[in-house]
Amino acid sequence: MAEAKKYLPSFGRKHGRALKIGKNTLLETLLPTLLIDAQELSGLKTPVHLEIGYGNGEHLCGRAQENPEITFIGCEVYEHGIAACLKHIQEHKLTNIRLYRDDARILLDALPSACLNKLYLLFPDPWPKKKHHKRRILNQEMLALLHRVMAKNAELSLATDHHLYARWMLVHLLHHDGFESLARSKSDWLTPPKGHTRTRYQEKNKANTHYPIFLNFKKI
Ligand SMILES: C[S@@+](CC[C@H](N)C(=O)[O-])C[C@H]1O[C@@H](n2cnc3c(N)ncnc32)[C@H](O)[C@@H]1O
Repeated sequence: MAEAKKYLPSFGRKHGRALKIGKNTLLETLLPTLLIDAQELSGLKTPVHLEIGYGNGEHLCGRAQENPEITFIGCEVYEHGIAACLKHIQEHKLTNIRLYRDDARILLDALPSACLNKLYLLFPDPWPKKKHHKRRILNQEMLALLHRVMAKNAELSLATDHHLYARWMLVHLLHHDGFESLARSKSDWLTPPKGHTRTRYQEKNKANTHYPIFLNFKKI
Protein backbone atom coordinates (compact mmCIF):
# COMPACT_ATOMS: atom_id res chain seq x y z
CA MET A 1 0.00 0.00 0.00
CA ALA A 2 1.30 3.51 -0.85
CA GLU A 3 2.53 5.48 2.16
CA ALA A 4 0.25 8.35 3.26
CA LYS A 5 1.51 11.80 2.29
CA LYS A 6 2.89 13.80 5.22
CA TYR A 7 1.25 17.19 5.77
CA LEU A 8 2.45 20.08 7.90
CA PRO A 9 0.14 19.88 10.96
CA SER A 10 -2.77 22.31 10.76
CA PHE A 11 -3.78 21.50 14.36
CA GLY A 12 -2.23 22.52 17.67
CA ARG A 13 -2.19 19.22 19.55
CA LYS A 14 -3.66 15.73 19.56
CA HIS A 15 -3.59 15.06 23.32
CA GLY A 16 -4.32 17.12 26.42
CA ARG A 17 -4.66 16.30 30.12
CA ALA A 18 -5.56 12.71 31.05
CA LEU A 19 -9.06 11.69 30.03
CA LYS A 20 -11.67 10.70 32.62
CA ILE A 21 -12.31 6.94 32.76
CA GLY A 22 -15.74 7.19 31.06
CA LYS A 23 -14.35 9.06 28.08
CA ASN A 24 -11.39 6.70 27.82
CA THR A 25 -13.81 3.79 27.73
CA LEU A 26 -15.72 5.45 24.89
CA LEU A 27 -12.47 5.82 22.94
CA GLU A 28 -11.67 2.17 23.49
CA THR A 29 -15.11 0.69 22.89
CA LEU A 30 -17.39 2.97 20.85
CA LEU A 31 -14.80 4.65 18.61
CA PRO A 32 -13.55 1.44 16.90
CA THR A 33 -17.14 0.64 15.86
CA LEU A 34 -17.54 4.03 14.16
CA LEU A 35 -14.21 4.40 12.37
CA ILE A 36 -14.57 4.82 8.61
CA ASP A 37 -12.42 3.23 5.96
CA ALA A 38 -12.18 5.41 2.84
CA GLN A 39 -13.03 2.52 0.52
CA GLU A 40 -16.39 1.96 2.22
CA LEU A 41 -17.71 5.16 0.73
CA SER A 42 -18.13 3.72 -2.76
CA GLY A 43 -20.71 1.32 -1.31
CA LEU A 44 -22.75 3.83 0.69
CA LYS A 45 -26.25 4.44 -0.64
CA THR A 46 -26.98 7.62 1.35
CA PRO A 47 -25.70 11.16 0.67
CA VAL A 48 -22.46 11.76 2.57
CA HIS A 49 -21.51 14.98 4.36
CA LEU A 50 -18.08 15.53 5.89
CA GLU A 51 -17.03 17.88 8.70
CA ILE A 52 -13.32 18.62 9.08
CA GLY A 53 -12.10 19.57 12.57
CA TYR A 54 -15.42 19.05 14.38
CA GLY A 55 -13.96 19.99 17.80
CA ASN A 56 -16.37 18.60 20.41
CA GLY A 57 -18.86 17.62 17.71
CA GLU A 58 -21.78 19.97 18.52
CA HIS A 59 -22.35 20.88 14.88
CA LEU A 60 -21.68 17.38 13.53
CA CYS A 61 -24.12 15.80 16.00
CA GLY A 62 -26.70 18.56 15.52
CA ARG A 63 -26.72 18.00 11.76
CA ALA A 64 -26.79 14.22 12.14
CA GLN A 65 -29.73 14.39 14.53
CA GLU A 66 -31.70 16.61 12.15
CA ASN A 67 -30.85 14.59 9.01
CA PRO A 68 -31.06 10.86 9.74
CA GLU A 69 -31.13 10.04 6.00
CA ILE A 70 -27.60 11.42 5.54
CA THR A 71 -24.34 9.75 6.57
CA PHE A 72 -22.05 12.21 8.35
CA ILE A 73 -18.31 11.70 8.58
CA GLY A 74 -16.40 13.69 11.17
CA CYS A 75 -12.62 14.19 11.14
CA GLU A 76 -10.85 15.30 14.29
CA VAL A 77 -7.42 14.65 15.76
CA TYR A 78 -7.84 16.08 19.29
CA GLU A 79 -8.56 13.22 21.67
CA HIS A 80 -10.68 15.26 24.10
CA GLY A 81 -12.83 16.49 21.21
CA ILE A 82 -13.27 12.97 19.85
CA ALA A 83 -14.28 11.72 23.31
CA ALA A 84 -16.79 14.59 23.76
CA CYS A 85 -18.32 13.78 20.39
CA LEU A 86 -18.57 10.08 21.26
CA LYS A 87 -20.41 11.00 24.47
CA HIS A 88 -22.92 13.00 22.45
CA ILE A 89 -23.34 10.19 19.90
CA GLN A 90 -23.98 7.72 22.71
CA GLU A 91 -26.38 9.95 24.67
CA HIS A 92 -28.45 10.79 21.60
CA LYS A 93 -28.22 7.28 20.13
CA LEU A 94 -27.02 8.65 16.78
CA THR A 95 -26.53 5.96 14.15
CA ASN A 96 -25.58 8.03 11.09
CA ILE A 97 -22.13 9.30 12.15
CA ARG A 98 -18.78 7.75 11.23
CA LEU A 99 -15.47 9.09 12.45
CA TYR A 100 -11.91 9.48 11.22
CA ARG A 101 -9.31 10.23 13.89
CA ASP A 102 -6.36 11.41 11.87
CA ASP A 103 -5.46 14.34 9.62
CA ALA A 104 -8.48 14.95 7.37
CA ARG A 105 -6.17 15.43 4.39
CA ILE A 106 -5.06 11.78 4.61
CA LEU A 107 -8.70 10.71 4.38
CA LEU A 108 -9.36 13.13 1.49
CA ASP A 109 -6.39 11.64 -0.39
CA ALA A 110 -7.88 8.15 -0.01
CA LEU A 111 -11.53 8.92 -0.82
CA PRO A 112 -13.04 8.08 -4.22
CA SER A 113 -13.64 11.08 -6.50
CA ALA A 114 -16.96 12.96 -6.28
CA CYS A 115 -18.19 10.98 -3.26
CA LEU A 116 -19.15 13.87 -0.96
CA ASN A 117 -22.33 15.95 -1.15
CA LYS A 118 -21.41 18.56 1.44
CA LEU A 119 -18.34 19.67 3.35
CA TYR A 120 -18.02 21.73 6.51
CA LEU A 121 -14.88 23.48 7.71
CA LEU A 122 -16.00 25.54 10.70
CA PHE A 123 -13.69 27.80 12.67
CA PRO A 124 -10.44 26.13 11.60
CA ASP A 125 -7.34 27.11 13.59
CA PRO A 126 -6.55 30.61 12.27
CA TRP A 127 -2.77 30.52 12.81
CA PRO A 128 -2.66 34.33 13.04
CA LYS A 129 1.13 34.83 13.02
CA LYS A 130 2.55 35.32 9.56
CA LYS A 131 5.23 32.68 10.12
CA HIS A 132 2.42 30.16 10.83
CA HIS A 133 0.26 30.93 7.81
CA LYS A 134 1.73 27.86 6.12
CA ARG A 135 -0.13 25.77 8.73
CA ARG A 136 -3.55 27.09 7.72
CA ILE A 137 -5.59 24.15 6.48
CA LEU A 138 -7.26 26.18 3.76
CA ASN A 139 -4.88 26.75 0.88
CA GLN A 140 -4.75 25.88 -2.82
CA GLU A 141 -3.49 22.36 -2.10
CA MET A 142 -6.46 21.74 0.22
CA LEU A 143 -8.91 23.20 -2.31
CA ALA A 144 -7.61 20.76 -4.91
CA LEU A 145 -8.17 17.86 -2.47
CA LEU A 146 -11.68 19.07 -1.64
CA HIS A 147 -12.61 19.72 -5.25
CA ARG A 148 -11.73 16.17 -6.31
CA VAL A 149 -13.88 14.48 -3.66
CA MET A 150 -16.89 16.80 -4.00
CA ALA A 151 -19.76 15.80 -6.27
CA LYS A 152 -20.88 18.39 -8.83
CA ASN A 153 -22.86 21.19 -7.12
CA ALA A 154 -21.76 19.91 -3.69
CA GLU A 155 -21.44 22.70 -1.13
CA LEU A 156 -18.45 23.81 0.87
CA SER A 157 -19.47 25.61 4.05
CA LEU A 158 -16.80 27.62 5.86
CA ALA A 159 -16.85 29.78 8.98
CA THR A 160 -14.30 31.82 10.88
CA ASP A 161 -14.31 34.68 13.34
CA HIS A 162 -10.78 35.68 12.35
CA HIS A 163 -11.46 38.31 9.74
CA LEU A 164 -8.05 38.17 8.12
CA TYR A 165 -8.47 34.41 7.74
CA ALA A 166 -11.92 35.02 6.20
CA ARG A 167 -10.28 37.27 3.66
CA TRP A 168 -7.56 34.64 3.07
CA MET A 169 -10.26 31.98 2.51
CA LEU A 170 -12.14 34.21 0.11
CA VAL A 171 -9.04 35.07 -1.91
CA HIS A 172 -8.06 31.39 -2.22
CA LEU A 173 -11.56 30.33 -3.24
CA LEU A 174 -11.98 33.11 -5.77
CA HIS A 175 -8.64 32.16 -7.33
CA HIS A 176 -9.84 28.58 -7.83
CA ASP A 177 -11.98 28.30 -10.93
CA GLY A 178 -13.80 25.18 -9.69
CA PHE A 179 -15.85 26.93 -6.99
CA GLU A 180 -18.64 29.50 -7.16
CA SER A 181 -19.78 31.67 -4.25
CA LEU A 182 -23.37 31.11 -3.11
CA ALA A 183 -23.53 34.50 -1.35
CA ARG A 184 -25.97 36.88 -3.01
CA SER A 185 -25.37 39.85 -0.72
CA LYS A 186 -22.98 40.90 2.04
CA SER A 187 -25.53 39.90 4.67
CA ASP A 188 -25.16 36.25 3.59
CA TRP A 189 -21.62 36.37 4.99
CA LEU A 190 -23.02 37.27 8.41
CA THR A 191 -25.84 34.73 8.47
CA PRO A 192 -25.29 31.16 9.67
CA PRO A 193 -26.50 28.59 7.14
CA LYS A 194 -29.90 27.02 7.82
CA GLY A 195 -29.64 24.25 10.40
CA HIS A 196 -26.33 25.53 11.80
CA THR A 197 -25.59 24.53 15.42
CA ARG A 198 -23.30 26.92 17.28
CA THR A 199 -19.96 25.28 18.01
CA ARG A 200 -17.91 25.36 21.20
CA TYR A 201 -15.35 27.60 19.56
CA GLN A 202 -18.12 29.95 18.42
CA GLU A 203 -19.62 29.96 21.95
CA LYS A 204 -16.27 30.93 23.47
CA ASN A 205 -16.62 34.30 21.81
CA LYS A 206 -19.94 35.10 23.50
CA ALA A 207 -19.38 38.86 23.33
CA ASN A 208 -19.12 38.48 19.57
CA THR A 209 -16.13 40.82 19.54
CA HIS A 210 -15.15 39.05 16.38
CA TYR A 211 -18.45 38.19 14.75
CA PRO A 212 -18.34 35.03 12.68
CA ILE A 213 -18.22 35.13 8.91
CA PHE A 214 -19.85 32.34 6.91
CA LEU A 215 -18.67 31.57 3.38
CA ASN A 216 -20.61 29.16 1.22
CA PHE A 217 -19.39 27.91 -2.14
CA LYS A 218 -20.45 25.19 -4.51
CA LYS A 219 -18.37 23.02 -6.79
CA ILE A 220 -18.92 23.85 -10.44
C1 LIG B 1 -10.30 26.01 16.37
S1 LIG B 1 -10.87 24.38 16.51
C2 LIG B 1 -12.57 24.50 16.05
C3 LIG B 1 -13.35 23.26 16.37
C4 LIG B 1 -14.81 23.27 15.99
N1 LIG B 1 -14.99 23.31 14.55
C5 LIG B 1 -15.52 24.43 16.66
O1 LIG B 1 -15.91 25.38 15.94
O2 LIG B 1 -15.68 24.38 17.89
C6 LIG B 1 -10.17 23.57 15.07
C7 LIG B 1 -10.21 22.07 15.17
O3 LIG B 1 -9.76 21.49 13.96
C8 LIG B 1 -8.99 20.34 14.25
N2 LIG B 1 -8.09 20.13 13.10
C9 LIG B 1 -7.15 20.98 12.64
N3 LIG B 1 -6.53 20.47 11.58
C10 LIG B 1 -7.11 19.26 11.34
C11 LIG B 1 -6.88 18.25 10.38
N4 LIG B 1 -5.93 18.39 9.44
N5 LIG B 1 -7.63 17.14 10.41
C12 LIG B 1 -8.58 16.99 11.37
N6 LIG B 1 -8.84 17.91 12.32
C13 LIG B 1 -8.10 19.03 12.30
C14 LIG B 1 -8.25 20.70 15.54
O4 LIG B 1 -7.83 19.57 16.26
C15 LIG B 1 -9.31 21.51 16.28
O5 LIG B 1 -10.08 20.70 17.13
